Order: sequence, then C-alpha cells, then structure tokens
Amino acid sequence: MMMKKLFCCEWFILSHLLVAAYVYSKEHGNPTNDLVDIINKNRTVEKLPQLNDSPGLGCMALQYIKLCEGNCTGGNAVNCKPPEDDFTEVFAPNCGVELPTFGTITGHIVGCQSKYLEPSLAFSRVLVKDKHSLSLLRNKSHTEVGVGMVGVHKGPFFWCILFSNGQTNSTFVLENHGAGIKQNKGCFSGSSICSWGQNINPVFLNIVSLGILSFLLLKPL
Ligand SMILES: *[C@@H]1O[C@H](CO)[C@@H](O)[C@H](O)[C@H]1NC(C)=O
Ligand SMILES: *[C@@H]1O[C@H](CO)[C@@H](O)[C@H](O)[C@H]1NC(C)=O
Ligand SMILES: *[C@@H]1O[C@H](CO)[C@@H](O)[C@H](O)[C@H]1NC(C)=O
Ligand SMILES: *[C@@H]1O[C@H](CO)[C@@H](O)[C@H](O)[C@H]1NC(C)=O
Repeated sequence: MMMKKLFCCEWFILSHLLVAAYVYSKEHGNPTNDLVDIINKNRTVEKLPQLNDSPGLGCMALQYIKLCEGNCTGGNAVNCKPPEDDFTEVFAPNCGVELPTFGTITGHIVGCQSKYLEPSLAFSRVLVKDKHSLSLLRNKSHTEVGVGMVGVHKGPFFWCILFSNGQTNSTFVLENHGAGIKQNKGCFSGSSICSWGQNINPVFLNIVSLGILSFLLLKPL
C-alpha cells in the first residue's frame, strides 16, 4: 500500500517535470530565429532573395543591443548610438568574429518594448512599423541578416537587426564556430544560444526537486 502511494507520487512528479520541460522549451525557443524567418517571408512576397542567417551578425546585433539596455524611451525608440568603431573594436572581438572576414554592415534596425512581444508582433509593432524600416528590410543589396534580442522577465525587451551585403558564409565568420562565445544573457539568430536573463531555469529547479524527493522517498526506513 505504502509502496503504491510512493509510486504514484513519483509518476506525478515525473509527468510534471516533462510538462514543465515542454512548456519551457516551447516558450523559450529562440525568438530571434523566428524573426529571421519573418523577415525572409516578408521579402519573398516582393520576390527578393532570402537572406542568409549569419550567427556572426546575430552575435554583434546582441552586443549592440546589450549596450543600449536601459535606453528605451517612449514609443519603442532606442535612444542609443554606439560609436561606429565599436563594431570592430568591441562587438566583433566579444563574439570572436574573425576580423579579416568583417564585411560591410548595410543597415540596422533597433527597437524596444516595455514587455515581451512574440516575434511577429515585435516585427510589425516595434521594428518594421514605418516606410523607412520597410524599405531598409527590402533593400536588394542585402545578402545576410542577424538578429539579437535581450530582455529581462518584466521588460523592457530590446531587438536589433543587422544587415550586410557580404558573401554568404565567408563574412563575419565566428572563430571555432562560435564555441568560445561567453553568453550569459540574451539571444541571437543562427545559434541555439538563448537565455532570457533568468538566473535559474525552471527545468533545472524541477530536476533538483525531483532528485531530492526521490532521495527522501526511496531512502530505506
Ligand atoms: C543611454 O542613455 C544615457 C542617458 O541618456 C546616455 O548617457 C548614454 O550615452 C546612452 N547610451 C548609449 C550607448 O548611447
Ligand atoms: C540599399 O542599401 C545600399 C547599401 O547600404 C544603399 O547604398 C542603397 O541606397 C539602398 N537602396 C535603397 C533603395 O534604399
Ligand atoms: C511586411 O511587413 C510590413 C511592415 O510590417 C507589413 O505592412 C506587410 O503586411 C508585411 N507583408 C507581409 C506579406 O507579411
Ligand atoms: C551557408 O551555410 C549554410 C549552413 O552551413 C548552408 O546551408 C548554405 O548552403 C551555405 N550557403 C552558401 C552559399 O554556401
């Protein structure tokens, strides 16, 4: 009888853990990759070529926007102008972009919002909401794109899109395929690196509590 109860309890915890893991991965996929898809879909309608999703550009977009955290002014504007030199002197080294492969950045779009918006809404309400940004998005000379996003649970959330006309796969090349990037906050496209700035993720907490409970339950009396 006692054993049966414990068994039920274990199953309850295990299924709870699986559901939590599923919800976590669904809610916390990488929204920057979704934004790249949205950008490409929008270009396709105009019969423009798809842009290559460049992790090197994405990582620099994240560096850019991290510098601007705290500078979100009313109406989704990011009041922040990092010096041009920061790209080669700060962002590229932080990401491990090999300098000889540094190409030309042909455009950037930044935006912020007091709370998290799913990528399609961030696109239409924050990033590409006027003629200027739409024409930038639809410029024929771009070949590559990278998106970065950073935010904390309660906001604000910042997004940055960088465009380049570099040769696909041979510009903004990451050393060691990006293995050395020290990333503790934020997400960027073309990679699986994505953390929303929470210190402890709930899956981890669940695993720990499951471990403790199993230990207590299975301990010989
Ligand atoms: C962010 O805003 C503050 C206050 O307006 C300003 O001093 C700072 O230079 C801004 N940061 C950047 C990177 O522009
Ligand atoms: C497209 O981008 C290129 C490179 O930045 C620029 O020279 C050109 O004027 C842009 N074209 C349009 C139509 O905005
Ligand atoms: C492309 O983006 C613009 C600006 O957000 C929007 O008005 C337009 O409907 C979009 N087009 C498609 C096909 O999604
Ligand atoms: C660039 O790399 C991606 C991923 O490795 C690959 O799918 C794509 O075909 C490459 N594009 C070119 C033009 O080499």
